[in-house]
Amino acid sequence: MRDESLSLAGEWLPVCNSEDVPAGDARGFIVADERIVVWRDSIAAAHVWRDYCPHRGAQLSLGTVMRDQIACPYHGWSYDVEGQCLRIPSNPSLRPSKRACAMTFASEEKYGVVWMCFGKPAYALDFFPEAAIPNGRRINLAPQTVRSSAPRVVENFLDMAHFSFVHVGILGEHAHTECRITRSLRFPMADWRRDSAVTGSPQGFRGRVAAR
Ligand code: FES
Repeated sequence: MRDESLSLAGEWLPVCNSEDVPAGDARGFIVADERIVVWRDSIAAAHVWRDYCPHRGAQLSLGTVMRDQIACPYHGWSYDVEGQCLRIPSNPSLRPSKRACAMTFASEEKYGVVWMCFGKPAYALDFFPEAAIPNGRRINLAPQTVRSSAPRVVENFLDMAHFSFVHVGILGEHAHTECRITRSLRFPMADWRRDSAVTGSPQGFRGRVAAR
């Protein structure tokens, strides 16, 4: 995460859907401009690290998972689940230094998604209690490209008054336009549209609101 002004350090960010990383394998992703590797160990637990070998910078996502270690594709250094290098094939008798350690991130797998946090998580990852509804159905979508500002997308997801017009026959009908208001919030939409910008991220969108 190169741009600290995004203030994402304490946020849980989605990296990929769980099914994107098979057991015993590794995959590379980009989150907030940072290359990330997700790999699964022998019990299929997901590990989320910077996709960067501390030796010469090769992408660990191109390496090989061997039970509870991942080996770099360049010189074969292998790392345990804590990120510590355990073996240097070109010098097998050498005990790797503590500094030979991959950068690991806090991570959790929940709601069919692998999540990560660049810093210390600011809150528990439990914002989707509906997942516990018996016989409920959760649908995880693949990443979508949206040509809009992030606040505009969030506003659209919260707005139900357009259902009866834009999504007729799918989510709404002309005969049922009324939305019951249970609580009202103030959204400074005019300011958001003027000041916000969105930049690309394969795993989602990233918004910025200009400082005033
Ligand atoms: S770059 Fe990874 S072992 Fe050399």
